[in-house]
Amino acid sequence: MESRTFQTQTEDDTIALGRQLGPELTGVVLLIGNLGAGKTTITKGIVEGRGVTSAEEVSSPTFTLIHQYGDADPVYHIDLYRLDEVREVETLGLDELFSSGFLVLLEWAERFPALLPQQRTEIRIDSRPDDSRQITVATLR
Ligand SMILES: Nc1ncnc2c1ncn2[C@@H]1O[C@H](COP(=O)(O)OP(=O)(O)OP(=O)(O)O)[C@@H](O)[C@H]1O
Ligand SMILES: [Mg+2]
Repeated sequence: MESRTFQTQTEDDTIALGRQLGPELTGVVLLIGNLGAGKTTITKGIVEGRGVTSAEEVSSPTFTLIHQYGDADPVYHIDLYRLDEVREVETLGLDELFSSGFLVLLEWAERFPALLPQQRTEIRIDSRPDDSRQITVATLR
């Protein structure tokens, strides 16, 4: 497993890190961290770094569940926080998205481990008392 760790001090730093990571990410990416850790924030940068839309266009898919940014090489941003049952998640058609080869960013998906592919990237965000974040990017295969 290849893994790298970064520190960010501010929201803008986290967006900038996402912008840097965006071009290299592929496939299924889990964003893991507590409420308010910065999962949606880093997504803003990732999406911008891939040139599909600007950070301001990215909002939390907490209620809409799935957002799609861009058309030709889209990025999907999914938030499973509001779902409790595996069968609810199964109605979303995630398998189809996972096998599409498009970049799929997921918040709270680690709650449904049986539905996830083995081959994926995990971005873990830990918040520190001083508001900084420790962010680890690990590739599993
Ligand atoms: N270093 C930092 N990196 C990222 N966000 C930060 C940082 N310092 C403070 N923040 C603040 O933390 C919050 C992160 O919110 P965000 O919506 O990205 O979290 P989330 O992990 O998606 O939460 P949720 O599980 O509720 O969806 C924002 O209000 C942001 O301004
Ligand atoms: Mg979020």
